Order: sequence, then structure tokens, then C-alpha cells
Amino acid sequence: MKFFIDTANLEEIRRYKEMHLVDGVTTNPSLLAKEAGDYRQILKQICQTVKGPVSAEVVATDTAGMLREGRDLASIDPHIVIKVPFTKDGVKACNMLASEGQRVNVTLIFSAAQAWLAAKVGAAYVSPFVGRLDDIGATGMNLVREIVDIFDSSDLATEVLVASVRHPIHIIEAARMGADVSTAPAAVIEQCFKHPLTDIGLERFLKDWEKAQAARV
Ligand code: E4P
Repeated sequence: MKFFIDTANLEEIRRYKEMHLVDGVTTNPSLLAKEAGDYRQILKQICQTVKGPVSAEVVATDTAGMLREGRDLASIDPHIVIKVPFTKDGVKACNMLASEGQRVNVTLIFSAAQAWLAAKVGAAYVSPFVGRLDDIGATGMNLVREIVDIFDSSDLATEVLVASVRHPIHIIEAARMGADVSTAPAAVIEQCFKHPLTDIGLERFLKDWEKAQAARV
């Protein structure tokens, strides 16, 4: 499974890219709004840093506007993947952009039917939002399982990109289910590193080593 970081913050991207953990980046208007500066320059720098797929989302809600913005975003860098919301206009825009050879990530997917329709019109990625489903008392990961099953049995090339990840278990379950990509914010990546037994174990190894060295003098 590929691993993307869900942020528009360059410092966070650099931190995990240096560790070779990050294959791509997902952004959205809320994430880009948190960063100071020109969004086109920020996206360009992200692309140059990650050298992998970088999702950048349109904010227009009509097909013509999505096409205009999508083409403009794609002109920033060849790594850009145009993100469109799952609406009727978004589906139309996805189809047209895909037929022009653009990669499109259809976002805000909350049902298998939506994912299937997006795949039918040529989406390169569909983004089911697991955390937001959990937030309303549903089980987000059940949706991922359904989509993976449908895409596998229908031979659809669209990649399942698990989004709205809230904790490491979402990532691990996504990998077990055969999702193609999981995108996580930096806070969740940090949680993946942490285990109290690792800290306790390391502390004990170092103390034992120190004790043995002191006894030798
Ligand atoms: C994915 O592409 C989205 O940017 C993101 O995962 C949304 O997550 P949230 O529900 O934490 O805002």
C-alpha cells in the first residue's frame, strides 16, 4: 500500500519525505487555507519535494469552473492530481478531465455507489472519508472493504485512497483490506511511531549497557 501525507505544510512533508515514508500528498482547500502564501507556489514546492502524486482540489462547484480550475492546477506541475468533489458536476468534470489524460481524485466519497460511479467515469483515485463516517456513528472501514471488493471483482483500475484517517488502526486495516493508498495527517504518522514498550525497552538496554561499562573501569 502506498502512503501519502494529508497536509499542505511543507515542513511536515519534508520531515517524512526525508525518511522515505511518503509516496504522495493529499491537500484540500481547508489544508491549503492554513498555509501562508500563494497556493500555486505552495503546490509547486510540494510537487518538487515529494516527486509523487499531489492532489489539489478545485473550489468551483459547476462543471465549467471545475474544468477551468482543474486544467490550471494541472499546469502547475506534472505531479498534480486534480481533486473534484463527488457531485453530478464533479462526475462530469472527472470524465472530461480523464479523457484529456488528467489524473482525477474524486473526493468526499461516502458510499460504494459513489465510488463505483466515479470509477466508471475514469477517476484515477476515489477517496472514501473513513473518519468522518466514524464521526457520525457509522464504520468507515466497512466502506473501504466494500469498495476494494467491488473494484477487484469488476477489474476497475481506479485506486482506493483511504482518507480522513484518524488513527494508526485505520492505516493498518486499510493495508489488510488491500486498499491502494492511505493518506494520513502528521499527527497520525507520529502516533504510528509511538509504543510505550519501545521506549521502556530502549531505556533498559541503554541502562544495562551503561552499568556494564561502568563495572569495567
Ligand atoms: C483527503 O484527501 C482529505 O484531505 C482528508 O483526508 C480529510 O480528512 P478530515 O476528515 O480529517 O478533514
